[in-house]
Amino acid sequence: MTDWLDAGERMGREELEALQLERLRATLRHAYENVDFYRQAFDKAGLRPEDCRTLADLGRFPFTAKTDLRDHYPFGMFAVDRSRVRRIHASSGTTGRPTVVGYTDRDLETWADVVARSIRAAGGRPGHTVHVAYGYGLFTGGLGAHYGAERLGCTVVPASGGMTARQVQLIQDFRPEIIMVTPSYMLTLLDEFERQGVDPRSTSLEVGIFGAEPWTEEMRREIEERLGIDAVDIYGLSEVMGPGVAQECVESKDGLHIWEDHFYPEVVDPFTGEVLPDGEPGELVFTSLTKEAMPVVRYRTRDLTRLLPGTARPAFRRMEKVTGRSDDMVILRGVNLFPTQVEEIVLRTPGLAPHFQLRLAREGRLDTLTVRAEARADATGEERAEAARAVAAAVKDGIGVSVGVEVVDPETLERSVGKIKRIVDLRTSG
Ligand code: DLL
Repeated sequence: MTDWLDAGERMGREELEALQLERLRATLRHAYENVDFYRQAFDKAGLRPEDCRTLADLGRFPFTAKTDLRDHYPFGMFAVDRSRVRRIHASSGTTGRPTVVGYTDRDLETWADVVARSIRAAGGRPGHTVHVAYGYGLFTGGLGAHYGAERLGCTVVPASGGMTARQVQLIQDFRPEIIMVTPSYMLTLLDEFERQGVDPRSTSLEVGIFGAEPWTEEMRREIEERLGIDAVDIYGLSEVMGPGVAQECVESKDGLHIWEDHFYPEVVDPFTGEVLPDGEPGELVFTSLTKEAMPVVRYRTRDLTRLLPGTARPAFRRMEKVTGRSDDMVILRGVNLFPTQVEEIVLRTPGLAPHFQLRLAREGRLDTLTVRAEARADATGEERAEAARAVAAAVKDGIGVSVGVEVVDPETLERSVGKIKRIVDLRTSG
């Protein structure tokens, strides 16, 4: 039954924790000895790598933030000689400098291994064909998925993002069992199938591995039903590795198992930084355990979740589906609102397509939020009006704030080709 698990996945919790401590101590030493930023930060905190004697001791070490990576642009966080850096990726960074990350040969091996493990947990097997529609390039999605699928022994179709009509053609012609893509671009592809008169349920696809952006259980249901597949969640971030830091198992679909033999998770209070016990919601923080080119110590992801015990892979803890990033949180007249909360409501509302946008504006001194949601093609005028009323009421009841709702014509909102941008901020400063 479990003969296809790799050695790491077969470890017991105690064995795993012993390995984590050994790797953690080596990582702290490596970071301290080879990266000025970490040496200064540890010195300032009065800590030496040897002061980490138990896994809990990690909580005494300083955090690393995205701004620290930006401040050391481009290569200041690297811990090995440039000649050993085999690949660079970078996050686009909507403002200012991008965040640059680097990988040694061994880091690329590790990455391929954890993505292969992730695809296997999703139900992928050697011999399957994997259609990769995550973008290729500096973004880690495309190449990360690509080498992991090859490592597992799959046939890879490196479609990348965009050229949507052709993607649909390729899926029909090459008959992949698996698709790896952002959930929002999957919706774009689904619409294209229907536009071309192809029943999406008739394709060869069996599993979709969706990530790189938050998505909800309602979105899972929408995609599973329209495409006739199992939809599972993959999580990761470039600073820690890329896709494949955590993966949902297809047999349980109950949150994502964190590959804890390579990435050590903590959840902290986003305001005080205090480490929270498992089960408590807060901000996810990662320390890499095996990375050579760019180890990260207590990297603050800004992603909100909580840690839960392992199920389908008992030794590895799970993280709950990420509900949002603290950066994406809208504070509207004192009420916190995440785009995923609106997604749940829009997808449950009859007459609406799963496409929506949040528009922030300012009227006088008050911030206002308008939910623009697309009508389904067959919705009548009365159904649209009812949908608008229902969304406004559900937001008011469930989230506790009044918003405007506009139901717009089908095919009017911009479609995603990668990570979707849900919030359009029309506020001018001052
Ligand atoms: O998005 C890596 C990735 C590629 C993951 C493909 C999964 C699939 P970044 O561009 O550095 O890396 O963005 C990382 O995206 O901190 C989260 O906020 C968000 N994110 C990634 N996966 C998920 C997910 C890639 N499954 C940032 N659910 C992270 C929710 C996710 N948010």
